[in-house]
Amino acid sequence: MVNFANFWQYIAPLQTALSGDQFNATKMAVQTYKLTRLPYLHDALEPHISTQIMQLHHTKHHQAYVNNLNSALQAHAKAVEAGDIAAQVALQPVIKFNAGGHINHALFWYNLAPADLPDTKIDAAPTLAVEIDKTWGSFDNFKKAFSDVLLKIQGSGWGWLVKDGQQLRIVTTKDQDPVVGGEVPLIGVDMWEHAYYLQYLNGKAAYVENIWNVINWKTAESRFVNGREDVFEKLKALL
Ligand SMILES: [Fe+2]
Repeated sequence: MVNFANFWQYIAPLQTALSGDQFNATKMAVQTYKLTRLPYLHDALEPHISTQIMQLHHTKHHQAYVNNLNSALQAHAKAVEAGDIAAQVALQPVIKFNAGGHINHALFWYNLAPADLPDTKIDAAPTLAVEIDKTWGSFDNFKKAFSDVLLKIQGSGWGWLVKDGQQLRIVTTKDQDPVVGGEVPLIGVDMWEHAYYLQYLNGKAAYVENIWNVINWKTAESRFVNGREDVFEKLKALL
């Protein structure tokens, strides 16, 4: 077991050792993030995702991740300036959670689209569709496999279709952990209760069934074809 009584005995000299000029010279501007603008109106995903959910999800939940991320980054910059390594470490999970929330929601909004657009049909993703058929045998098999994974998520988290090297995979992330390994996130589905509860109550399966009507396959195709650097380069403008 870690003896926290001795913790500062090790940290204090480390802090002194790390508080040299290279750390005092870090008075740099801290990036401020902004709420992602939606590419459609809050009522555009009706009836599959209600206007009320979209308003709250976007302007309250997503905004809170942005606000908390900006506050944590400011506090982190001050901790760096003060050479307070313990405060820096304590802020890392806060930054991870809220930055993940910001990234995940920005990806999510852009991989959704109003159901009447052709972008929501698999035909809008010809290259990706071939790979889906190759991996799961058919588009319907893929939808079933993805839906099953989404419904098995325990607690809060996300389901993703990712491109991992040349392979397609379905993965989940817990809480607001983003897909920040080497994979390319093609489609993300928010499985937090705030994404569906006001409309679907405990009917999580109905939410998952209906989300297929508003998946933006054109965006998924672009992410699949252009790759990770392109996804995150485009994402920068939305954050
Ligand atoms: Fe969410």
